[in-house]
Amino acid sequence: CSVVVLISGSGSNLQALIDQSLQGDLDIDIKAVISNKASAYGLERASNADIATHALDHKQFESREAFDQALMTLIDQYQPKLVILAGFMRILTENFTRHYEGRMLNIHPSLLPKYKGLNTHQRAIDAGETEHGVSVHFVTSELDAGSVVLQASAEISSDETADSLAKKVHSLEHIIYPLSVKWFSLGRLTLQEGKALLDGKPL
Ligand code: GRF
Repeated sequence: CSVVVLISGSGSNLQALIDQSLQGDLDIDIKAVISNKASAYGLERASNADIATHALDHKQFESREAFDQALMTLIDQYQPKLVILAGFMRILTENFTRHYEGRMLNIHPSLLPKYKGLNTHQRAIDAGETEHGVSVHFVTSELDAGSVVLQASAEISSDETADSLAKKVHSLEHIIYPLSVKWFSLGRLTLQEGKALLDGKPL
């Protein structure tokens, strides 16, 4: 299954995908990694794995639409079956999300529908939650609102900090994202009428 991965930062989720595909646990061909930030460490991870990289700086474009259009053109050169957002910190236009409907996944560090948006770990602690986690979902035009594929949760301890919680959640991300991608690559995961299905059944 050919994929393109979009990142903005460290790329530890990208690394988990690379590692699992090298181990033979995940049958994907990562055609390219694209970052909107040239300094993203994930680009180095990709180069180290001999994967094509691109930095496409959103600040060079005069509008969100123009950036998304250039990004789409770049992605489509690789004709990926799946687009994987792995810490890609840009809000996407409807044109973009519609173009990749049913073939674009995101990972969000909260138990959706709770805590869409940013600073999810701190917000969960501040709200006195005892549980937090991470969700993989199909991407739709509404931010962090697409149909959920898989979630994993972690307990929030009494002395939890945003950093310690982020660490816990990250280690869960590295399990559930490759698993979701594996389901997609095997043709088991689909989006129908806005709902994620596994083997044809609602998740
Ligand atoms: C993760 O916390 C992910 O849930 C969020 O962005 C972060 C990316 O981390 N969408 P990394 O760059 O994969 O290490």
